[in-house]
Amino acid sequence: MSNNNFENFRIVSDMVDTLTDSDIRKIAGLINKKINQGEKIFNLTIGDFNPKVFPVPNEYMNEVFNAYKERHTNYPPIVGEPELRKTLSKFISDREHLDYSPDEFIVGGGGRPLIFTYFISCVNPDETVVFPVPSWNNNYYAHIVKSKMVIIETSPENNFMPLADSIKPFIKDASLIAMCSPLNPTGTVLQKENLNLLCDLILEENQRRKKANIKPVYLMYDQIYWLLTYKNYKHYNPVSINPEMRKYTLFVDGMSKYFAGTGLRVGWGFADDEVITKMKALFSHMGAFPPKPEQIAASRFLANKEWVDSYIDNFKQEVSKRLFSFYEGFLKLKSKGYKVNAIEPQAAIYLTVQFDLIGLKKPDGKIIQSTEDITNYLIDDAKVGLVPFSAFGSYNNPTWYRLSVGTCTHEEVSEILYNLENSLSKLS
Ligand SMILES: Cc1ncc(COP(=O)(O)O)c(C=O)c1O
Repeated sequence: MSNNNFENFRIVSDMVDTLTDSDIRKIAGLINKKINQGEKIFNLTIGDFNPKVFPVPNEYMNEVFNAYKERHTNYPPIVGEPELRKTLSKFISDREHLDYSPDEFIVGGGGRPLIFTYFISCVNPDETVVFPVPSWNNNYYAHIVKSKMVIIETSPENNFMPLADSIKPFIKDASLIAMCSPLNPTGTVLQKENLNLLCDLILEENQRRKKANIKPVYLMYDQIYWLLTYKNYKHYNPVSINPEMRKYTLFVDGMSKYFAGTGLRVGWGFADDEVITKMKALFSHMGAFPPKPEQIAASRFLANKEWVDSYIDNFKQEVSKRLFSFYEGFLKLKSKGYKVNAIEPQAAIYLTVQFDLIGLKKPDGKIIQSTEDITNYLIDDAKVGLVPFSAFGSYNNPTWYRLSVGTCTHEEVSEILYNLENSLSKLS
């Protein structure tokens, strides 16, 4: 049947029809096309790893193989292997001093199904989700649940982290506040004092709601990069800061980032028994759990402190070496008069950089007029792919970018900086 029959009406729900693919993936697609055509492009766009540069821990891999050999091939329990949930409970108790029982965890196929579950569970259509930008994918999840969005623009002065005061005017209408620290795309962390103020806001609002018998506002706290902090920067969580936040905090975490295990798809969420229990039926219908052998392997790996510590020590060293080399390189370029800038790396696998190039003339005589022009010039001339903050929903900062080091070797850093300087020097 010809598609023409469907020209004037939608063949899927309005929500799905209007849901778009992530802008990050679009830029990555453009770069991959060039790479497939034989061009050498340094692709620093993706929040993923080159497994040859950053392999998952050997012990974790071996345990995956072992679990398959042991034929753990039937259904895992819907909310996750009991052994893994027990290990996770101890893992966060040992490392974050958080007290959550194994029943307060849901294990998912990466962090995403938990984010999906939290949005659907906390937000009715037309209710409000508040989130800062730049941030990762909140706009898409808000679209899926048909919520209103309150978007908080942040600025370089605050390392692109939202201040509690900027959320205050919107708290009365919010069903969910979506926060992430360390933050993708910026590689910066929420400061303790600021998080403390945010907790106060939420607790005060929920006291009011309790009296009025109104559903509380929840804080989704995505800490999927939390083991990766550098120098004196620390990761804080709302519940350690204020134990009363236990009732209202929905954690997202997983093996994807700090064990470079994006393809193994083991993530988890944890939250107070009362609220997470309500979400288990929804999760069971989604069926978004990781394969049983991966769950068993994750449990065996996480239970071994020595394996975890030695991997994380080395991983942090390797990632931070690249981040700081880039950072220092950008400062050098800035000191030479190029219109670039960068924020000191604090966490995760990202560096926040600025290419303040709008208004400059390219070698072909054309003027750089937009974020898209900057992105394309860097790809075409410097052969370097970066993601603009606009792809993370921020339109107030058109010259700021995320640089991801998950696919690059340390040796490549100087080559990339050389290419960038060469391209910047051609602008007038
Ligand atoms: C902040 C953040 N949360 C969650 C995820 C999802 O992780 P997963 O691959 O485990 O689903 C990502 C992935 O990029 C992320 O950056």
